[in-house]
Amino acid sequence: NKIVLAYSGGLDTSVILKWLKETYDAEIIAFTADIGQKEELDGLEEKALSTGASKVYIDDLREEFARDFIYPMFQSGALYEGQYLLGTSIARPLIAKRMVDIARAEGAIAIAHGATGKGNDQVRFELTAAALAPELEVIAPWRLEAFREEFPGRAEMIAYAEKHGIPVQASASKPYSMDRNLLHISFESGMLEDPWFDASHTDNEEMYVLSVSPERAPDEAEYIELEFSAGDCVAVNGVEMDPLGVMEKLNELGGKHGVGRVDMVENRFVGMKSRGVYETPGGTILFAAHRRMESLTMDREVMSLRDSLITRYSTLVYNGFWFAPERLALQALVTESQKNVTGTVRIKLYKGNVIAAGVKSPVSLYNPEIATMEADATQAYNQSDAAGFIRLNALRLKVSSGVEQNDKGK
Ligand code: ARG
Ligand code: SIN
Repeated sequence: NKIVLAYSGGLDTSVILKWLKETYDAEIIAFTADIGQKEELDGLEEKALSTGASKVYIDDLREEFARDFIYPMFQSGALYEGQYLLGTSIARPLIAKRMVDIARAEGAIAIAHGATGKGNDQVRFELTAAALAPELEVIAPWRLEAFREEFPGRAEMIAYAEKHGIPVQASASKPYSMDRNLLHISFESGMLEDPWFDASHTDNEEMYVLSVSPERAPDEAEYIELEFSAGDCVAVNGVEMDPLGVMEKLNELGGKHGVGRVDMVENRFVGMKSRGVYETPGGTILFAAHRRMESLTMDREVMSLRDSLITRYSTLVYNGFWFAPERLALQALVTESQKNVTGTVRIKLYKGNVIAAGVKSPVSLYNPEIATMEADATQAYNQSDAAGFIRLNALRLKVSSGVEQNDKGK
């Protein structure tokens, strides 16, 4: 019996590893996706083996994450509830996809994860597994009463770890939960559960990892240039880069200037509201620059149609439906809408702000000769035509206005 466990090396998944092995009398294959969480990967393989894993996979998925997940999502302009750039949401389907591949290659009967029964992540993992490998069983220990009874709190987990010789981090664990990858870091729970708690206060600066606070950002603004081809950023400051390189570069630039911090109360798919703080420095620059590139190159009705679908697309990603047919259908439309989103955007970074500072394109739809208030040499637009245009558009307003006046007369 083999079980593939999504393993992070933290207390929870370490305890789960051991617990699964004992409870199911199974061989546990530990799997960690490198999706840009950095230092958290040091010493992981030894740790998993010493905790009882029979085999360990640590797979570098950073390129695939940037190219096949982050980039297509950014083409759509996805933003959940007006603020969240979906940094955790978009990573889960990739982790689950690779986990399912490993399970099949290893002939495992189940996959397991350490997401709680109250969150979004369980849904994202399991909807992906359902879409890609419906035959696989999923074990979510936190949803099992026996597991919750054995581990009502952290103290019991630490005691269990010590009893089984599982190395536990000596340093007091952080009073909040973090999830880091190439696109963002999320912070939840602990003191953040109080929505009146001011996470932006400089007293709380030690929580942040990817960015300085705007207050501590440089006094000098910094100009950068992003080059786009068909909706994807392909170069930064004149240097061609693959999607992974772009994300790393933009994270560095944004972080330095205090860009991309968000503090919100969001609606989880499972029904509750939850308070989260996010650092998304590179993604915030990319999002703004991409929209600016579209402003010059995208047809009005195409933009309007794509924009009307942003909420749908964002909700699908948030709720874990990345591999659902409706997301793929939407993606086809989104990607088609991007074919002329090509050119260069100049941005000024200054104390948490992403400021538009220029845009140009070889396929621009913007024609200053048509738009100008000066005499129009192109003759493409005749101001006299506007009178009839307005009269026809006004017709139904005039008619309904008359009806409303009759109503009032009754
Ligand atoms: N609330 C965010 C989301 O649902 C972040 C979740 C963070 N997950 C975690 N395991 N810490 O996408
Ligand atoms: C969890 O519940 O495991 C983390 C938070 C979430 O998934 O929303």
